[in-house]
Amino acid sequence: MQKIQLTFIAALLALGLTACGKNNGTDSTAGDSAKAQSGSDAKMVEFVTTQDGKPLEINAAQFDTPAAKEFMTTGKNPYVGNEEASQKGKKLFQLYSCTQCHGGDAQGQTGPSLHGPDYKYAKDATNKGMFETIWHGTNGGMGAKGKGLMDPTDPNNGLSVDEALKIIAWIRTHGTTTGNE
Ligand code: HEC
Repeated sequence: MQKIQLTFIAALLALGLTACGKNNGTDSTAGDSAKAQSGSDAKMVEFVTTQDGKPLEINAAQFDTPAAKEFMTTGKNPYVGNEEASQKGKKLFQLYSCTQCHGGDAQGQTGPSLHGPDYKYAKDATNKGMFETIWHGTNGGMGAKGKGLMDPTDPNNGLSVDEALKIIAWIRTHGTTTGNE
């Protein structure tokens, strides 16, 4: 009697193990195909939030202009030093009401001056760092995309990646560094 029970338990265990094996198989297949998909895209630099340095997820599709694509893979802002793009950036700085808090010339108002070279968040001296601060905001009164949007990852919510790069290019016209060093 006892022997039969043991055999039964052993059989159950074997079944369970087989099922586990199957699950693992399915999971790893899914993982492989996800890897293959991201591998086919150009590599993205690792963006992190200014709040806590945790990964900042941005859909690759949002890098939808040549400049934005270059920024996505290098972290460098190709608009810096480009007069036309910087002038557009100045208009966008007004359009998205950055002026309300940072002043018409980004000289500072209720929000801090953005001229640099010293920033509250040292990483804002780089274009990648300043982009992260603008995109996801801070804990000290700077909302995501300047507005405190509920979902800064929504592409239809506030400024685009390309627009942010133009704004940063204009901000850099006030300083002595390009932010691309
Ligand atoms: C409602 C007011 C407000 C608006 C609108 C706003 N900001 Fe800010 N911003 C702030 C405040 C306040 C800070 C300081 C945040 C802190 O200390 O954490 C800040 C900080 C920043 C910083 C970091 C400065 C540093 O010294 O590190 C950048 C860059 C910046 N803002 C850019 C922008 C841009 C670009 C826009 C428009 C898209 C914008 N802000 C819109 C209030 C605002």
